[in-house]
Amino acid sequence: MNLPYAEPYKTKMVEYIRPSTIEERKQWIKEADYNLFNLTSEKVFIDLLTDSGTGAMSDKQWGEMMVGDESYAGSQSYLKLKEVVNRITGFEYFLPTHQGRAAENVLFSVLIKTGDIIPGNAHFDTTKGHIEFRNATALDCTIDEAFNTSIYHPFKGNINIEKLENALRTTEKGKIPFVVLTVTCNTAGGQPVSMDNIKNVSAVCKKYGVPLYIDAARFAENAYFIKIREEGYEDHSIKEITKEMFSYADGMTMSAKKDGLVNMGGFIALRDEEVYKRATVFNIMYEGFITYGGMNGRDMGALAVGLDEATEFDYLETRVEQVAFLGKQLVEYGVPVLEPFGGHAIFLDANKFVPTIPRNEYRAQALAIELYIAGGIRSVEIGTILADRDPFTHKNRYPELELVRLAIPRRTYSLNHMRYIAAVIKEIYNTRSQAKRGYKIVDEAPIMRHFTVKLEKIINE
Ligand code: F0G
Repeated sequence: MNLPYAEPYKTKMVEYIRPSTIEERKQWIKEADYNLFNLTSEKVFIDLLTDSGTGAMSDKQWGEMMVGDESYAGSQSYLKLKEVVNRITGFEYFLPTHQGRAAENVLFSVLIKTGDIIPGNAHFDTTKGHIEFRNATALDCTIDEAFNTSIYHPFKGNINIEKLENALRTTEKGKIPFVVLTVTCNTAGGQPVSMDNIKNVSAVCKKYGVPLYIDAARFAENAYFIKIREEGYEDHSIKEITKEMFSYADGMTMSAKKDGLVNMGGFIALRDEEVYKRATVFNIMYEGFITYGGMNGRDMGALAVGLDEATEFDYLETRVEQVAFLGKQLVEYGVPVLEPFGGHAIFLDANKFVPTIPRNEYRAQALAIELYIAGGIRSVEIGTILADRDPFTHKNRYPELELVRLAIPRRTYSLNHMRYIAAVIKEIYNTRSQAKRGYKIVDEAPIMRHFTVKLEKIINE
């Protein structure tokens, strides 16, 4: 029997969301200086700004909130979490942190020095930020297929082994402290990395004596793609696949706000005792004592349960196929989206959607604003505003792609919400030829301008 998937959970508590009118939203977005980050949540109907920390916890996770052990040292909740991390990743050493970027901060404080080069697959912003902050360079070795939105490749997050080996061979010894592999690759559109690629990256790293670390924020979604797309893994359980993925690496950083199924949290897990010992010093300085590192006992308990739940096939099937459901509806309506669909988000291709809006008028942002006005949907621009200006010329850096990311929170919205989102986008798509003008920036911060930028609408002359 070939039955459709159905969510392996039911609803025990609901949170009301407030519908609003187009007139109200036009006013609110103007008051927010056309920056979606400035909207307060009650003005948003469906919030797709991020899938980070915005999901729903299970009853078992909430149960852990009541029995959390808040001891400063040696908390039972810490031990519970340590057991799960060890069982799922195979790494012996573990340090909790308050979120993913904190894990990067602690680990990179140990590993990176000025002038270093850190190869990887399209490093996430905070990863790149923590590398550049230490006057080091993030070297992107992602395969070329990743940058073409309409080419089909099952593992667009893969590293180009030749590019990586070339960097390892030609760089002065000691200047590459490690390689970082992000699974799934958020910056490349939530695209997975194959087991074969992880294995090959690991082999090249070993050949040159360089450790491999995994940015594991969406490791479970990556494992799901391996199971359904990679030959030889059909009959493996998700937990077997994740264990194998990590077996090729020396350690990991984790933003538990994604595949940890919690609202806040993160950790570092390691194989090497020496690196662990050095990292504990920074963990204590920046995060907290090594048995809580920035997390409450109750939050560590909820994360322990979340990691187990996130690595179950039924949950992942619902999760990834819900995202794909939205993608398929949009493709059916002829809307240009990045394919194959990512694990956590659908990306609208604004260069193809609204080519009529000039690039220097921020077409992806203009599209994101339209989504909000038409349907109360909050998305995020991944285009020229995010790419920011060249630090030397102070001119806009126009990235190859102008995207609008629709990130889907875990276990939060229904298929009807997906249908609603697709219908709103279809309406906008049908009237796209009327879109001629975009926005101009009236105020921007020196760096990371997208969070606080102020915009004004350019009125058609
Ligand atoms: N690595 C990846 C791949 C991420 O996507 C993120 C966060 C981080 C690290 C940092 O983790 O937020 O817990 O400090 N991504 C969020 C997003 C913010 O919206 O994609 P964090």
